[in-house]
Amino acid sequence: MSAIVSLRGVSKLFPVQGSKRTQRTEAVRAVDDVTLDIEEGTVVGIVGYSGAGKSTLVRLLNGLERPTEGQVFVKGQDISSLPEGELRKVRAGIGMIFQQFNLLKSRTVSGNVAYPLKVAGWPKDKIKPRVDELLEFVGIADKAGSYPRRLSGGQQQRVGIARALANAPDILLADEATSALDPETTRDVLRLLRRINKELGTTVVVITHEMHVVREICDTVVMMESGRVVEAGPTYSVFADPQSDSTQRFVSTAVHGTPEPDTVSRLSAAHPGLLVSIGISETAPTPLVAATFERHGVGSSVVFGGVTEIQNKILGTLTYELTGSAAAIDAALADLGDVTAVERQIPTAAPAESALPHLPAPVPANAGE
Ligand SMILES: Nc1ncnc2c1ncn2[C@@H]1O[C@H](COP(=O)(O)OP(=O)(O)OP(=O)(O)O)[C@@H](O)[C@H]1O
Ligand SMILES: [Mg+2]
Repeated sequence: MSAIVSLRGVSKLFPVQGSKRTQRTEAVRAVDDVTLDIEEGTVVGIVGYSGAGKSTLVRLLNGLERPTEGQVFVKGQDISSLPEGELRKVRAGIGMIFQQFNLLKSRTVSGNVAYPLKVAGWPKDKIKPRVDELLEFVGIADKAGSYPRRLSGGQQQRVGIARALANAPDILLADEATSALDPETTRDVLRLLRRINKELGTTVVVITHEMHVVREICDTVVMMESGRVVEAGPTYSVFADPQSDSTQRFVSTAVHGTPEPDTVSRLSAAHPGLLVSIGISETAPTPLVAATFERHGVGSSVVFGGVTEIQNKILGTLTYELTGSAAAIDAALADLGDVTAVERQIPTAAPAESALPHLPAPVPANAGE
């Protein structure tokens, strides 16, 4: 694999007006010394809180912003200092889709998709078959003559995607492309992005603050905080072993963790055995955990948690109620402690009476998501 986009020590500063009193112009460092490679043919997720610098980073990739410091290479070419005319050519090879779709209201679906082809100087007779092909590919051929306002959000985003693909870009940038869509439509659009990657070989860069988007389609994750890249790596590794605090917080929104203290109290009221949370992963899959308990003669049943699949690998946390002799339980947990996270859940307070009827139903180990 080779990098299709490389950033070397890239910073972007924006001037901001200082306070009235000082009249000084200060600068905000939207992107701060970022060095990063995006491998050709992959789906990359750029994640971070609002203001982390995600949009600015992506605008640097297609030359909509010029770096204040550092260099941006696209397909080996340093675009940081290209004249505008040359930059336009580079940009033609990069498609972009947006949260608000940015369609032309006065043009039909066909007209919107034809627009970049006209700009690129395609001959008239070639434009129509290309537009038809694109609308077919994204699944809205029947809407060719409709105006954007007559379409649902998901359909509008498909038009945006068809338009972005018109000039057969090698790179597709998606800035919060699913943030305005409901969960089911989001899933459809994500599937479409994955299909574009697989069938057309397009490198896809997805900006998002939703980890489930990353979990579903990204090969690698780049975590940004205050303009910096604080973590980057294969999606499964980042989810299984997040390094920074903010990555941990993001990951916990999409992967089952250990129960909160009040849940532990409620669980222990209903389950007299010892409660233990076990990290489930490639190195500690559920059959291995079950076999370990069995080998030591420990009874186990799942009372809380769940597992999910990331890049076809299992990940999650299951809380078990264990029964058997203290020695047997100790031995089983010692074995498991060698391969995964093991946490004994001791209730800190008696559960409130009213909390008992709301006991969450146990999630089976193979529940998935
Ligand atoms: N054109 C601009 N002029 C001045 N400041 C800017 C400009 N664009 C971005 N910034 C600032 O740079 C920082 C990063 O902004 P950016 O839009 O890249 O963040 P983001 O991660 O995309 O946030 P969000 O999730 O809200 O979209 C913010 O502090 C923002 O206010
Ligand atoms: Mg943004």
